Amino acid sequence: MRKQTKTHSSLRTVQWKNNAVVMIDQTKLPNKLVFVKYTDYKDVANAIKTLIVRGAPAIGVTGAFGLALAALQSKAKTKENLLEDLEKARKILFETRPTAVNLAWGLDKIMKVAKEGKDVTIIKESIIQAAKKMADDDIQTNIKMGKYGAVLFENNDTIMTHCNAGALATVGYGTALGVIRATKENGKRIKVIATETRPVMQGSRLTAFELKHDGIDVSLIPDTAVGYAMSKGLVSKVIVGADRILRTGHVYNKIGTYQIALIALQHKIPFYVAAPLSTFDLKSNPENVIIEQRKASEVTEVAGKKTAPDDIGVINPAFDMTPPELVTGIITEAGIAKPPYTESIKKLFESRL
Ligand code: MRU
Repeated sequence: MRKQTKTHSSLRTVQWKNNAVVMIDQTKLPNKLVFVKYTDYKDVANAIKTLIVRGAPAIGVTGAFGLALAALQSKAKTKENLLEDLEKARKILFETRPTAVNLAWGLDKIMKVAKEGKDVTIIKESIIQAAKKMADDDIQTNIKMGKYGAVLFENNDTIMTHCNAGALATVGYGTALGVIRATKENGKRIKVIATETRPVMQGSRLTAFELKHDGIDVSLIPDTAVGYAMSKGLVSKVIVGADRILRTGHVYNKIGTYQIALIALQHKIPFYVAAPLSTFDLKSNPENVIIEQRKASEVTEVAGKKTAPDDIGVINPAFDMTPPELVTGIITEAGIAKPPYTESIKKLFESRL
């Protein structure tokens, strides 16, 4: 059941509170800070689907909390029956969004914990604990990423970022914006240029909101002004987050990332990606990755008002793929991967064994 409360003391994007999942309703930002509370995993699935919560790391943790709710909702008396209920919930949660790999990562981790538990009571408790730990770990991971990434940026840099890879896309602190925060915390004077990121304006609604809130100098540009800004020398470096990174260094991120990387290359501007190891998909090839297509009204309407002719055909992919040759470095919590990525990414994962 979904309930709305107006205020909250903590600014965590998603958290577990008194056997419920509490999260910021990101569709209401920046106009209203509203927290929503769920006790049914199907409502959590719907929240992921409708972008109430979004951003790869945040939906990974939210999926895990969804499974914790499913465990609490289950009336199963045996381990087998509980696992059946959990599998049903896993499928529903998994099918909400196809591109960000962190969702599958979070769900699989919790299913593993469930399978290892001895009985129903132990499994329920251990799932809740594991999901809570995943949320805490996410913040620590982002802080580590920030430490590694901050060395790549210099005093007086103007950093361009796309979409929202901040505290709101994670449990807290952020991936790409975490690196920007850490750079500022290291005493460097920096400015940020944020793209508005059509069609649902994750850049203007969320990134600009977060950076302004933190006192970081941010200017907003239309997505179409990236070439202008770079050609005028207004951008020193680019940093974005990611929804999925392949072992070859192919980066899937919010639509528009690819063209930013191409223009950056043209102007010899370093293009960095910041993402936790949970965003890496070491198994898939580019042809297996499903790109989420979203509804036509995101393109044919602005703020609920029609801006296109009736019955117009629409192509509205949510993500695109940036090939490895356009990526200067990938910042993770285990260090920075540099080209050639097949080798450097393998090394990062080996260092974690
Ligand atoms: O469709 P969204 O808003 O859920 O897209 C995900 C993203 O926010 C991004 O692509 C982001 O830059 C990477 S997730 C830290």
